[in-house]
Amino acid sequence: MKIIDVKTSPKYQVKIAAGLMDRLGEEMLAVLGKPCAVAILTDDTVDALYGSRAEEGLKASGFTVCRFAIPHGEGSKTLAWWGKMLEFLAENRLTRSDCILALGGGVPGDMAGFAAACYLRGIAFVQVPTTLLSMVDSSVGGKTGIDLPQGKNLAGAFYQPKLVLCDPDLLSTLPEETLLDGVAECVKYGILDDEPLFRLFAEGDWKAQLPEIIARCVQAKAEVVRLDEKDTGCRQKLNLGHTFGHAIEKQSDFAISHGKGVAIGMVMAAKLACQLNLCDESVPRRIIACLERVGLPISADYSAGVLLSAALSDKKRAGSKITVVLPEAVGQCGLYPVPIETFAQWMKLAVE
Ligand SMILES: NC(=O)c1ccc[n+]([C@@H]2O[C@H](COP(=O)([O-])OP(=O)(O)OC[C@H]3O[C@@H](n4cnc5c(N)ncnc54)[C@H](O)[C@@H]3O)[C@@H](O)[C@H]2O)c1
Ligand SMILES: [Zn+2]
Repeated sequence: MKIIDVKTSPKYQVKIAAGLMDRLGEEMLAVLGKPCAVAILTDDTVDALYGSRAEEGLKASGFTVCRFAIPHGEGSKTLAWWGKMLEFLAENRLTRSDCILALGGGVPGDMAGFAAACYLRGIAFVQVPTTLLSMVDSSVGGKTGIDLPQGKNLAGAFYQPKLVLCDPDLLSTLPEETLLDGVAECVKYGILDDEPLFRLFAEGDWKAQLPEIIARCVQAKAEVVRLDEKDTGCRQKLNLGHTFGHAIEKQSDFAISHGKGVAIGMVMAAKLACQLNLCDESVPRRIIACLERVGLPISADYSAGVLLSAALSDKKRAGSKITVVLPEAVGQCGLYPVPIETFAQWMKLAVE
């Protein structure tokens, strides 16, 4: 088993091992001290696959369990469904000494975490991520929340879980397309500061090494989160490919998934960096070859103007400046805050 310490306040561990799902009860008992009531918050797809296994495991360790599933997909990450989650907790009379188990991908994970942050002004929660994206990204770092009609993730809280359990075996049921969304984030960690990880995707048998890959990505995210828990400084590095990627996702009306948007966004960032002489041309070339090898897209047919207006409505903009993450090499990136006018020119260079 791989164990990674996330040194936030409070701190917690991410455990990664095949078969962890079958030790859910024992693992939760170890962090919670004694059995309590656990509300499993999940989505309908994950519930059908793993809900009863999780429930039985917890009951075997003495927990009482209730279960609530939202319809799967980003469309459920709403105030209305989140409200139903809170009402479910109240109906089942969960108290401050009880616990929420967030079981699923980033959608139920973010929502359940936010419910944990708000219900009774905060109760314990444990994450069992079931997508690659949620294992390497959303379950670590304490960002929780929901979407509003005005935009994604506009309401939420920083709220850390008590424990994160990653069981790579759960990925066996994941559709290939959903797995690839997570792969884009893993490749991102490689480009950011782990060239050997990048090479695993560019040359290696990455599917055979998922537990190791998850551990490296979680380690990288944990380190960034430790340095910048509230996302005001270096945590912005995790946005590599995201400024362009979000614009692409949005412009496609979310027909292009997050991971695919990020993949295309990383290519744009690399091309831009190359044009600005921050890196040599081998960087975009290697990134393109790697993404194509794993089956991710490398371009989308949108003009600079269209992507610019989509990007400018992004919430991650601080005042009149926009911070772009650019690769200086595969395994090294920098933060570049620029005025909007410069960003507009950069968008043209990135699209060319
Ligand atoms: N909190 C953060 O720091 C953070 C970071 C990145 C992304 N996010 C959020 O994460 C969300 C995206 O996460 P996601 O891609 O995991 O989305 P998701 O939770 O919607 O999962 C994607 C799909 O996979 C299905 N699924 C999940 N696990 C499965 C399994 N083991 N087998 C078969 N099917 C399975 C789900 O039912 C869903 O249909 C977005 O809402 C995004 O905003 C949050
Ligand atoms: Zn992302």
